Amino acid sequence: MDLMDSGEKFNPRQDWDTTVQFLPASDSKHLEKTPGRRRKLWIGVGLVLSAAAVALVTGLLVWHFQLRSDVRVNKVYIGSMGINNQRFLPAYEDHRNPQFTHLAGLVSKQLKLIYSQNSVLAKHFKGSTVQAFSEGDGGDSVVAYYQSEFDVHVLQQETLDKAIESLDPAAQQGRQGRFLKRVDALNVNNVVSRAIDPRMTKKSLVERKSFNIHVSEAGVVQSPGFPDSSYPPNVYLQWRLRADPGHRVRLDFHTLILEDDCEQDFIQIYDSLAPIAPRVLTEQCGYPHDSLSFLSSGNVLLLTLITNEEKNFPGFRANYSQIPLTEQKCGGELTLEKGSFSSPFFPSNYPPKTTCVWTIEAPKEKFLKVQFNKFLLGKYSSQCLNDYVDINGQRLCGNKLKSNVVISRSNKMTIKFNSDSSHVDQGFTAEYEAYVPTNPCPGRFQCTNNLCINQTLQCDGWNDCGDSSDEDNCKCEASQMKCKNGRCKPKFWECDGFDDCGDKTDEENCLKCKPGEFSCRNNRCIPEKFKCNGKDDCSDGSDESACEKSLVLQTCSEFTFSCRSGDCISKLNPECDGEKDCEDGSDEDGCQCGTKPYRSSRIVGGEASRKGEWPWQVSLHIRGTGHVCGASVLSNRWLLTAAHCVQDNGPNKYSQADQWEVLLGLHMQSQTNEWTVRRNLRRIIAHEDYNAFTYDNDVALMELDSNVTLNQDIWPICLPSPTYDFPAGQEAWITGWGATREGGLGANILQKAEVRIINSTVCKSLMEEQVTDKMLCAGVLKGGVDACQGDSGGPLSVTGPSGRVFLAGVVSWGDGCARRNKPGVYARVTKYRRWIKENTGV
Ligand code: ARG
Repeated sequence: MDLMDSGEKFNPRQDWDTTVQFLPASDSKHLEKTPGRRRKLWIGVGLVLSAAAVALVTGLLVWHFQLRSDVRVNKVYIGSMGINNQRFLPAYEDHRNPQFTHLAGLVSKQLKLIYSQNSVLAKHFKGSTVQAFSEGDGGDSVVAYYQSEFDVHVLQQETLDKAIESLDPAAQQGRQGRFLKRVDALNVNNVVSRAIDPRMTKKSLVERKSFNIHVSEAGVVQSPGFPDSSYPPNVYLQWRLRADPGHRVRLDFHTLILEDDCEQDFIQIYDSLAPIAPRVLTEQCGYPHDSLSFLSSGNVLLLTLITNEEKNFPGFRANYSQIPLTEQKCGGELTLEKGSFSSPFFPSNYPPKTTCVWTIEAPKEKFLKVQFNKFLLGKYSSQCLNDYVDINGQRLCGNKLKSNVVISRSNKMTIKFNSDSSHVDQGFTAEYEAYVPTNPCPGRFQCTNNLCINQTLQCDGWNDCGDSSDEDNCKCEASQMKCKNGRCKPKFWECDGFDDCGDKTDEENCLKCKPGEFSCRNNRCIPEKFKCNGKDDCSDGSDESACEKSLVLQTCSEFTFSCRSGDCISKLNPECDGEKDCEDGSDEDGCQCGTKPYRSSRIVGGEASRKGEWPWQVSLHIRGTGHVCGASVLSNRWLLTAAHCVQDNGPNKYSQADQWEVLLGLHMQSQTNEWTVRRNLRRIIAHEDYNAFTYDNDVALMELDSNVTLNQDIWPICLPSPTYDFPAGQEAWITGWGATREGGLGANILQKAEVRIINSTVCKSLMEEQVTDKMLCAGVLKGGVDACQGDSGGPLSVTGPSGRVFLAGVVSWGDGCARRNKPGVYARVTKYRRWIKENTGV
């Protein structure tokens, strides 16, 4: 797949079936037994009694919460304390060792002393326990992790929280030394603590366990039971990872699949050995799309897993290792006229508490500009107080930049990257370049946002700058139309079902009929009110095919869905939409398809898909050669691919089933995992009318030699009925391991890209070769996104109104890959619905 467009969007979709049932309203008359007057009396008595009850309960509640002095809660705070002038001893890793106990005793004493200096804390303090120790920053110090408990009145919890926060180093500034003076044994710094996350104290958590792991030798952590069974319910597990002194812990997730709701099941990673909120690096649940490689700032990292009763998923597996702190020192002097730099450890998440400074110096007469290609700095705050990039004093943060290009009106630039102690993200990559001030974009067009683009892209109808400045103030050529907003767009984009102008003017006045009239697909005009009246007024059925209500029609047409009973209904695309439209329910038959196991909720900039995101995608391997084509899962036995993939080619007998091995549930070509299933083929059925010159009828069926078990990674895609409509402009996804550029190499990780269905007339006019009615075009006419060699046979997936995914096309051919105005051409699956049914029964 060819994907140069980085602005790819991920659409959150509802992939779960949510069935809400209401109780049927009962008919009150049937329940009424007592005659009218007695009933009224009873109602009166009832009302008085209930009013009294409400008053009593209210009174009790007020008393309970406001007046009773003994409604108290046990409040737990988790914290860490730095201890200066102490060497870390290996004995401190074992809580049963007397040296651990000794130091823990001193820490508890110290805490008591600290709390005694604050009247609120002193009053409610109950006791502390030390849970672990680790090395502090820079040799001669130790960090203690502890839990302190307080007994407090319910209404005073907030006051207590505030008092605890006032101990933070930030709050203590200017009051330094306060802990130090009056203490006999310990020289203390950096006390940070916070109330424990209530999800960690739930009574339902029946199993609580900690594991201590040394990461000096690389290894694997995984949730219990992974991958054979789902993780256990109601657990709170924590893994304390320690690296050697002077090293960082590195944790790379290979799989992470949890329940979608972080209130239920989640993992957290802390830059600490205890779950102190201000040290959390991330919280994840569901099936995240973010980068899942994490680094600690010091030599410890904590991983926690909390689960609830319901819905247990496979869990996670992660590799741990250590890397020297000195490795990947970031920042430095950049003296070339052109170059690039990125946040530390990119594309892994940057570590917390890291600062890098780059200085760029260009020849005196030149200015400098920096262009960010990726920019993900986590939580945004208006003053960029958390993680940020500072360029010559201007701070940038968050995940969105106003402009990707920053310029300096001098030959020097200082760029600083800073991460605080929590919430990490992937970071940034940037390119810099020195330029002559009078000519910032030599031979190129300069956008308002300072980007330089090829001159030929100016006024071509495409927003190449990103701020549309290349499409402003254009004189439209003869081959272009003028939008109301002043932009020029190629004429053949008019009325293609997609808003190209951005103000919809290219899609206005597309109907050849008068206002108040409906334009039939056969170009006839009928009065609007005849639409969806149950009668075929167009005489091609198109006025009765896209109605909200599913009326049973007198006559069927090529645009109307026909039920098994033979009835035709007037609703557009009624199959598997979750509503029974046919009387016999046949529109909802065989709908175990097209759902994705995980809901994902983030916009991703990248192009690699996540494991399990396209469970119908199959990789077809030729034995001894490897991946050759893609295919889609239709059932536990049948696949659909392209006929051109299974044609003999000289000595290569691709038409023979025994030459192939198919991989289902595959994500990375280089790495099969516990969910990858290999199968041989029993037979291949290429379409009998496949035309090797025109690629017409480029479809073939493959039967597996034995059934596969359908699961989260192997799941059929829905087949559209012959009348299913995929209108021009509709979004679709292409997926595959094919070449990532024309003439390039195949991808290792399954790639995905969003394209749009393209109007057939437009497509026919763009392609030199013949595009038949059994083909469907999709792509991005701007270029840069397309299927390519090795993607053939794979799916063009379209999400239907109910969230189910339908197979609109099979990757077939194109003119090169991803060229401007050259869409990809696909076999139109609706044309083969009957053929598939006849050959497979699916
Ligand atoms: N025929 C190619 C293959 O065998 C796929 C071509 C798709 N090309 C395109 N530009 N959409 O893999």
